[in-house]
Amino acid sequence: MSEVVLPTSAVLNEHLGKVVLVTGAASGIGLATARLFAQHGAKVILVDLEATRLQDVAQTIGHGCDFYACDVSSWEQQLSLFHWATRKHGPPKIVCLNAGIDPELATSESASGKERVLSNYLADEYEASGNPIQVSDESGQLLKPPPKAIFDVNFYGVLYGVKLAVHHLGHGCGGRIIITGSAASYIPVTYQDVYVASKHALIGLMRSSSQREELKEKNISITMVGPWLTRTALTANLPPEATQGHEASEPEDVAMGIAYLASAEKGEDVNGRCLWIRGKRCIEIEGAYEKWLAQMMGI
Ligand SMILES: NC(=O)c1ccc[n+]([C@@H]2O[C@H](COP(=O)([O-])OP(=O)(O)OC[C@H]3O[C@@H](n4cnc5c(N)ncnc54)[C@H](O)[C@@H]3O)[C@@H](O)[C@H]2O)c1
Repeated sequence: MSEVVLPTSAVLNEHLGKVVLVTGAASGIGLATARLFAQHGAKVILVDLEATRLQDVAQTIGHGCDFYACDVSSWEQQLSLFHWATRKHGPPKIVCLNAGIDPELATSESASGKERVLSNYLADEYEASGNPIQVSDESGQLLKPPPKAIFDVNFYGVLYGVKLAVHHLGHGCGGRIIITGSAASYIPVTYQDVYVASKHALIGLMRSSSQREELKEKNISITMVGPWLTRTALTANLPPEATQGHEASEPEDVAMGIAYLASAEKGEDVNGRCLWIRGKRCIEIEGAYEKWLAQMMGI
């Protein structure tokens, strides 16, 4: 595993005039990323759920950034987003697929080691009402299905974004797709099972897509950041006990990792790479995985 040297201002200035699209840009890591690129001369398109929030955020960033309200879990809305962005600003050069949710996080450990399980996909919870015929258990109640929303946003939101980015970036001279995964793309986290699964799915998507000829032909790299605990709205309600002993990052630390993947001189050198970001440390992790895999496969 190799520690990554993050870019300097001079390197980042090369983004002058480039169109950069960032999802989940109204808060946290997305906001820090949008601000960083805007400060270095990029034309940034902020994407998030609510137009009014985006407008406020765009004003605080300044630098002529634009915004578009879009629910990334909707194919139709992302289709419109990419058409609008390309028509208005030209094809984006850098696409940061960052929007994500973690409703299970509130269910993690709490003070004094007690678990606050508010959302547990294995819980024996029942629908308030429904048709109990055929599918009800002995009590006559309907078991609630596990949640779909986490995959809708965290996985399908990215899958749609990758397809649309490859389609639109291909009209220009290549570009970079950077996905916000998580440390949870690699490790289990008790009571965040569905979130963990959605983030593991992203690593599979990134690994496989990075080998596709379509991306090579169009000179597009696909990469990922895997942040550890980061101080954002997503983690703001965690009790102090849950974060004690964890080396937290600031959103700006993760933004620098994203900027590295966008700025590394040759796209092919970062293609398929993932940066594990913990505190201020930024380590490339996929190279180690590839070595292990080669051993397992006897290559
Ligand atoms: N904060 C952490 O500790 C941490 C750790 C690892 C990974 N991540 C990942 O980082 C990414 C950004 O999270 P963050 O920590 O900055 O949280 P955040 O809540 O501050 O920001 C997430 C943003 O995404 C937006 N969003 C949510 N659903 C959306 C949708 N359907 N369409 C468009 N926008 C949507 C939210 O409105 C919000 O502005 C997420 O993918 C998250 O899983 C965060």
